Amino acid sequence: MSFQIALDGPAGAGKSTVAKAVASELHFIYIDTGAMYRAMGLYLDSLGTDLEDQAALDAACEKASVTIAHQNGAQHIYLNGEDVTTAVRAETAGMLASKVSAYGSVRRKLTSMQQEIAASADVVMDGRDIGTAVLPEAPLKIFLTASVEERARRRYLELKNKGQEADLAAISADIEKRDYQDSHREIAPLRQAEDAVYLDSSNLSAEQVVEKIVFLARERMS
Ligand code: DC
Repeated sequence: MSFQIALDGPAGAGKSTVAKAVASELHFIYIDTGAMYRAMGLYLDSLGTDLEDQAALDAACEKASVTIAHQNGAQHIYLNGEDVTTAVRAETAGMLASKVSAYGSVRRKLTSMQQEIAASADVVMDGRDIGTAVLPEAPLKIFLTASVEERARRRYLELKNKGQEADLAAISADIEKRDYQDSHREIAPLRQAEDAVYLDSSNLSAEQVVEKIVFLARERMS
């Protein structure tokens, strides 16, 4: 039986940093489901698919191949054979992902892929609906959040450190918009699973969050 850690929370809460470190510490595979939604967002945008046209959306989803491979411990994401690992990180890809993720055809396709991956390996899977919809039976569920101000500040510093232009007010507005979209959609909205452990990282370092999750996982695995 594989062991799953479901890690959900809003954009910018530090999920991927924490998930990667927890996976490495426990020798689990890290699955970034947001990257899968981002790849689908880029794909549907490149096709110009009318998201309200159910038949067109179903046909486009059917044709999309989104796969994940691990190379030297790093996750690579492929869209119809092309490595889009870097492309999915763009802010525009995040917004596109938030938009297309509200559609049932997109969610069904990615959810079943995620369930298949988790059935065959020990995983730390991060996203918005992992504990509530993808892996409702996961033995450990974490809901990781932080204040909007703190999340915006972290994103701002991340961009600045990369030498990129950054506008704190614009980042804050973007985060609020994504929070709203992700938690108000009809299907699998972002919300804490009843049995999830709530962690607010506003005043915790990534190391402290990792330590807590690893501790809980070891406790539940024994
Ligand atoms: O975590 P992220 O910023 O890479 O996610 C991008 C968008 O994808 C996010 O705004 C909502 C959507 N998403 C989702 O609906 N369900 C998931 N399990 C993961 C991401």
